[in-house]
Amino acid sequence: MGAAREIERPEIRTERLHLRPFHAADADRLVAFLNDFEVSRTLGRVPYPYTKEHAVDWLDRQQMPCPADETGFVIDRGDGLIGGIGFRLIDSTPDIGYWLARSCWGQGLMTEAARAALAWLFAETDHAKVRSGVYEGNPASLRIQEKLGFEVTGRSTVHCLAQGRDLPHIDTQITRTRFEALDR
Ligand SMILES: CC(C)(COP(=O)(O)OP(=O)(O)OC[C@H]1O[C@@H](n2cnc3c(N)ncnc32)[C@H](O)[C@@H]1OP(=O)(O)O)[C@@H](O)C(=O)NCCC(=O)NCCS
Repeated sequence: MGAAREIERPEIRTERLHLRPFHAADADRLVAFLNDFEVSRTLGRVPYPYTKEHAVDWLDRQQMPCPADETGFVIDRGDGLIGGIGFRLIDSTPDIGYWLARSCWGQGLMTEAARAALAWLFAETDHAKVRSGVYEGNPASLRIQEKLGFEVTGRSTVHCLAQGRDLPHIDTQITRTRFEALDR
């Protein structure tokens, strides 16, 4: 299952956004926007405080070509990085994660980015589903997932690096069939 092709640093264009590869020059904006507890407290693997060293280390690891189901994208509205979105494999199934600079919330940007990233992933791979989820108390992210067609599959506990503790988590997934039926 899965069999993602190895591809060269892809990019995706949407109506308002350019989802593009990370570059070393993104470091300062990465720090400016991720060193914000309101952003990192609902993410699993982003430390807080978020330093230039964290950004450089992350960017170093993004420079290599990688399979579609492990690809990360910068979210760029034409004037530099404003967020990130990407996939990682957990138990052979892609899991989507995303964040946006606080000043850009509330404009439908992540719904637009996540819809495009999912369409790209399903086109580039043969995965039958994508998983995600939100920590309890993150209604904006849960709403995005509901709008895209994700369904709740259960509850779990997931560590949050920024908060340094395990938190209750709502697990979700979307099947290829459901995404394709809704994405018209
Ligand atoms: C979650 C996040 C990505 C949302 O990005 P965004 O671009 O503002 O999201 P969108 O505007 O595309 O959609 C948000 C939806 O949630 C709704 N929403 C926002 N706040 C809400 C709240 N407190 N209660 C209920 N719904 C809410 C919005 O109205 C919108 O739904 P609508 O289109 O039906 O009106 C952004 O807040 C963020 O980066 N948060 C920190 C990191 C994070 O939590 N990442 C996700 C981890 S699972």
